[in-house]
Amino acid sequence: MKLLTPSAGTPVSFLAILKGATSSFSQSISTFESVIKAHTNKKYCYFTNSGTTAFYVILKALKTILKKTEVILPAYTAPSLILPIRKAGLKPVLCDISLKTFNMDIQSIERCINKNTLCIVPVHMFGLPMNMKDVMRTAQQHSLYVIEDAASSLGTTIHNRPTGVFGDVGFYSFNRGKNLSTLSGGCIVTDWEEMAEVIKAECASLPAPGFVSKLKIAAKLIALALAVRPLFYTVFYDIISKLKYTTLHTDFDSFTYTKFQAGVGCALFEQASKILNKRYDHGMFLFDMLAQTKGIRLPELLPQTVPVFNQFPVLFDDENIKEICFEKINSSGIESTKLYPDPIHRVYDLGYDLENDPYPNATYFSRRLLLIPTHPMMNIEKLSVIVKIIRARLGT
Ligand SMILES: Cc1ncc(COP(=O)(O)O)c(C=O)c1O
Repeated sequence: MKLLTPSAGTPVSFLAILKGATSSFSQSISTFESVIKAHTNKKYCYFTNSGTTAFYVILKALKTILKKTEVILPAYTAPSLILPIRKAGLKPVLCDISLKTFNMDIQSIERCINKNTLCIVPVHMFGLPMNMKDVMRTAQQHSLYVIEDAASSLGTTIHNRPTGVFGDVGFYSFNRGKNLSTLSGGCIVTDWEEMAEVIKAECASLPAPGFVSKLKIAAKLIALALAVRPLFYTVFYDIISKLKYTTLHTDFDSFTYTKFQAGVGCALFEQASKILNKRYDHGMFLFDMLAQTKGIRLPELLPQTVPVFNQFPVLFDDENIKEICFEKINSSGIESTKLYPDPIHRVYDLGYDLENDPYPNATYFSRRLLLIPTHPMMNIEKLSVIVKIIRARLGT
């Protein structure tokens, strides 16, 4: 039987689950807070049930501090980021991405700024660090706030500082596909005292999940810890694939993070360097092996940064070759993904003229992107299979 390797996954050990179970009787949330504060060197840290809720809470808090309405974000990122912006009564304003860095294009940000701009949301896509120096300079020139989306880049560093700490406020996600996962979860960090007070009050007003919901979360977390392992993934593939998201989200629930998840989070952080280093090593292996291949583009890596790849992005010049590689890689037993097949302005109706594409790079990117898994269940042998498939298709 050929074993299947999933596209995403954090190996959660039996010990980590045990720690989660015993945490239900301890102060695991404040312990996890201390862990994150130590990791980020930030004064304030708050947890929520998801990265989406974390973003929503930050936006609501920011709105009370500055009465402006527009939120600038990249046209190619998680489309669900539109939901908290709208729910907070704010307006999303998209900017194009760079086909060199695969992240927000700084010049495009400049063009979106006007007197209504509340904040800029740089997103470190796939664990690739944005140039935060440029973002902060642009924000300071126009007196704007920066909410740093480090949902996919936990562990990535810029000049030895983790992503998530450069903006006025930053947030992380512990969702199932993220660098470290506790099934779900969001975390906010900041040094800004006034903002922290409002965020704290917002978080305190979130409902707590009931007993049954907490049990369900714990059970799903345990199931996921098993499901991401190739043997379980292969045996239960039919059931697992039915549980994956297939429809577009139209709303999201907000509630508090559970003690069980915080306990697992603390245990995961004890092995974080091992897990995150693997992601980095796997990404860098792919980078080195594919760097000279004609017919694809890889992201430009910024100097003095350590990208902890959430997944490794490969941008194909030819859409059809991308599709063939996708099929071949997946039939080799390794799950690659195409992520979002469309940029945000083609997913949600935001009133843009699609005939005259306002974000051509984001559209080009969404059609030609293939993501290769970098998680710890991958290894050099599996990565080499992928390299061979891509090189064979491109004739190099
Ligand atoms: C870049 C980015 N930001 C935010 C989120 C939202 O995080 P969550 O899934 O925890 O709500 C995601 C999730 O996919 C994401 O990829």
